[in-house]
Amino acid sequence: MGGFQYLLLFAWLLQKNLAVAVVPLLASSNICKFNPTQTTIALEKPYCFYVSPNAVTVYLYVVMNNATNLTLDQTNTLTSTEGGSKAPYVAAMFSNPNCMDTPTISQIYDFSQVQTTLNKYVVRVGNDENCFNVNPCNKALKSNVAYRFIYVFYNSTPAIVFQSEWSPPIYTKQGKDSGSIDTWPGRRSGGMIVLTSILSVLTFFVLAGLVAAIITSIMAPSTNTETRRHETRTSHTVPQKTDEVAEYATASSISERYSSNLQA
Ligand SMILES: *[C@@H]1O[C@H](CO)[C@@H](O)[C@H](O)[C@H]1NC(C)=O
Ligand SMILES: *[C@@H]1O[C@H](CO)[C@@H](O)[C@H](O)[C@H]1NC(C)=O
Repeated sequence: MGGFQYLLLFAWLLQKNLAVAVVPLLASSNICKFNPTQTTIALEKPYCFYVSPNAVTVYLYVVMNNATNLTLDQTNTLTSTEGGSKAPYVAAMFSNPNCMDTPTISQIYDFSQVQTTLNKYVVRVGNDENCFNVNPCNKALKSNVAYRFIYVFYNSTPAIVFQSEWSPPIYTKQGKDSGSIDTWPGRRSGGMIVLTSILSVLTFFVLAGLVAAIITSIMAPSTNTETRRHETRTSHTVPQKTDEVAEYATASSISERYSSNLQA
């Protein structure tokens, strides 16, 4: 009897664990090309981890993998935990993302929407340069260090209503490769692609213009005869014009004569 109960309990726990096995995950490489960097780790926001009609705030805790104390304390900061080496600290707080509004794969792939999707879909640990008097402080992580993350959901009391599992350890990049510091997609890669295409198109037009100019200068003799013909034509029209002016002049002298008649 007892054994059967334990088996049931085990089955129930297994099912519960499978249903609840939600962990913070690295953001998709479609959206964050350089992730992690030396000082940042971008995570997917916890969509549909916990669905509730009430207002729920998500706290993202960060801890170094070698820390032994995993007590969750809302007041822990980066400074008080020595960068997460003593205990987990709160790196970010945001309202529980709306499960009905999960970004779609097409949105994640859509380059024009990347910045909007990023802020909606991604939380970036280590994003803040300056944390003076800012709480929670989300300052740069240390390079080549393994960190672990957990999402904890608080109601307005605030009391914990749900929490994810701890993430597996995720390493920041090793220092040296300066190209990987703070490269945020959408800013650099996209801009550079657009700029490069514009420049190559412009180069093509400049070259085409150069070729056209060379061809015209080779064909120069034929254009010379054309201008001579044009010159002769204009020289013909000049006497015509003077005739017209003369006619007009005589006409005006007639009207002058009339007016002088009237005055007399
Ligand atoms: C954990 O790792 C960090 C970074 O390498 C180091 O500064 C700290 O001393 C380590 N803490 C322990 C308890 O080993
Ligand atoms: C673990 O961390 C919590 C919160 O930072 C602290 O209150 C507690 O004393 C720590 N426990 C140990 C054994 O250091």
